Amino acid sequence: MALERLDKILSGTGRWSRREVKDLVKAGRVTADGAVVARPEDKFDREAVELRVDGEAVDGERYCYLMLHKPGGVLSATEDPKQPTVLDLLPPHLRRVGLFPVGRLDKDTEGLLLLTNDGPLGHRLLAPKKHVDKVYFVRVEGRLDQEDRRAFRTGMVLGDGLRCLPAELEVLEPPDTGLVTLREGKYHQVKRMLASRGKPVTYLKRLSMGPLRLDPELAPGAWRPLTQGERQELERLR
Ligand code: URA
Repeated sequence: MALERLDKILSGTGRWSRREVKDLVKAGRVTADGAVVARPEDKFDREAVELRVDGEAVDGERYCYLMLHKPGGVLSATEDPKQPTVLDLLPPHLRRVGLFPVGRLDKDTEGLLLLTNDGPLGHRLLAPKKHVDKVYFVRVEGRLDQEDRRAFRTGMVLGDGLRCLPAELEVLEPPDTGLVTLREGKYHQVKRMLASRGKPVTYLKRLSMGPLRLDPELAPGAWRPLTQGERQELERLR
């Protein structure tokens, strides 16, 4: 396995910038196999070395996991010739580590988006068999009611024949708002389900995905690395 610079390995986790890694090393807070690392440019085999920051293992961190509050107006894609993508919201060093969005949100949809380069985990989160719940806040034209709720529960069949799994709809106040819980993620699904009830969606925001909840401290367009607790919750889905 090729040797890589410490600052590249640590900043690639999304938890520290290169500048921060430099400061951590200078302060003697980084160890490699028990020895304090002297320079951020020192090289290691990331597969073999045991790195610690402040004594906490940076567990092999081959992968990067970021929570993004996707704003409206950007694509859930890794590149696009004309339009901004979610990767454009990240600093340059994190645009080069192979991150991809786990499950797409429409361009105008806001909210929780997990970005990772952990392919196997991404696929598991999206696998229909895993039934990872996704919760959306929704606003519609018109009023949501108990008939809509029953239709969602029964498992709707959309105009094009798409059969949806039973889903939850909680009507909120004011009644043009609600919470939708889906166990699958078909194209434009929330919008299509509500359109078929004659209540077009005017605003959509994802609040959670499995164990991950959108951090209320994250403004639209902001991101942060997942906490260790959040990463452990995701591990349980493996
Ligand atoms: N359902 C939709 O219609 N759009 C999204 O972005 C996500 C779920």
